[in-house]
Amino acid sequence: MQFKLTEEHEMIRKMVRDFAKNEVEPTAAIRDEEARFDRSIFDKMAELGLAGIPWPEEYGGIGSDFLAYCIAVEELSRVDASVGVLLSAHTSLGGWPVYKFGSEEQKQKYLRPMAQGEKIGAYGLTEPGSGSDAGGMRTTARLEGDHYVLNGSKIFITNGGYADIYIVFAGTDPTLKTKGQTAFIIESDFPGFSIGKKEDKLGIRSSATTEIIFEDCKVPVENVLGNVGDGFKIAMMTLDGGRNGIAAQAVGIAQGALDSAVGYAKERVQFGKPIALQQGVGFKLADMATNIEAARLLTYQAAWLESEGLPYGKESAMSKLFAGDTAMKVTTEAIQVFGGYGYTKDYPVERYFRDAKITQIYEGTQEIQRLVISRMLTK
Ligand code: CAA
Repeated sequence: MQFKLTEEHEMIRKMVRDFAKNEVEPTAAIRDEEARFDRSIFDKMAELGLAGIPWPEEYGGIGSDFLAYCIAVEELSRVDASVGVLLSAHTSLGGWPVYKFGSEEQKQKYLRPMAQGEKIGAYGLTEPGSGSDAGGMRTTARLEGDHYVLNGSKIFITNGGYADIYIVFAGTDPTLKTKGQTAFIIESDFPGFSIGKKEDKLGIRSSATTEIIFEDCKVPVENVLGNVGDGFKIAMMTLDGGRNGIAAQAVGIAQGALDSAVGYAKERVQFGKPIALQQGVGFKLADMATNIEAARLLTYQAAWLESEGLPYGKESAMSKLFAGDTAMKVTTEAIQVFGGYGYTKDYPVERYFRDAKITQIYEGTQEIQRLVISRMLTK
């Protein structure tokens, strides 16, 4: 492993940190309270070029890399994990599969407007009956002349209802199971496509999470992404990178919670001195910081590997596993540092705690990450 943050990475970090501080943090608590997705935040990110960080300029991106993208997700999540996952799902789950498997025409038609932030991307794999067992999907796609007809539904769709482009997986030959599934690019105004239930969630409340429904939804054959029958592999490869975006989100959440805890511990005086100087609290802060640093290094390593064109699936599963657990541990401890105040909405640590939990669940539970890692170790 060999990576070093470049001047460009540092510049992007500073730009996103300033943006997060000025444009995202002030409304984070109220948007959380109201469970309100704010598209204008995405529009402002797009103005800064953040909607297409790793994509080449020929496809509307800024031509940077996956490490810069992870740094951006981290910095956004440091103040608001809902905005972090908006960018993560848009880039890793919406944009990546088109970048990797799309034809030149599909890239110009779909990746370019996503990279420029004119359109928001999303990804639909999970169904009511198939979560961890993603290959057990029931949504079908039937070929009828020059189009496919999709029927079924997908749930827990990040950016659902606000996304314009959904990468969706459906069975074109259900008898072949994972080898009979195909990826499709769906536009939100295709006939037969609609938005179903909107989830009311514990955390990342201002990120939109909905069901998407296909009722005889007509999809032109030119919207097949990659080869017919390659959908499951495309879904898995997409998640390989997506998981590292979630790791970056988890690192950001944990760092935000630590920042708050350190600030509070320096000011809160008990037994005649700031609690930060009491060993019980000081050691807690030290452990929190150490875990975050380890999680960050795993995350940056996986992002660097991807940027270098090296294998990164195992490392990405490891980074999500470790960073997700770190976010949960650190946010729990942050509340402990704040004591009773941490349990109230007067401070942001309870929000970080609620937001952290999802990083152990989505884009594959921690148990699935262990499955992926152990299979790679033994294959
Ligand atoms: N890259 C390339 N190919 C892969 C792959 C990968 N990462 N993973 C699997 N494959 C291939 C296998 O090689 C195999 O192909 P061959 O038969 O040709 O060898 C084929 O796909 C089937 O693989 P498996 O036999 O391993 O499949 P499985 O049914 O045992 O499932 C699994 C494997 C890892 C458990 C997978 O189902 C999985 O990752 N489940 C979790 C799903 C998940 O993460 N869901 C989150 C959804 S996104 C989300 O959270 C919403 C959001 O908006 C944020």
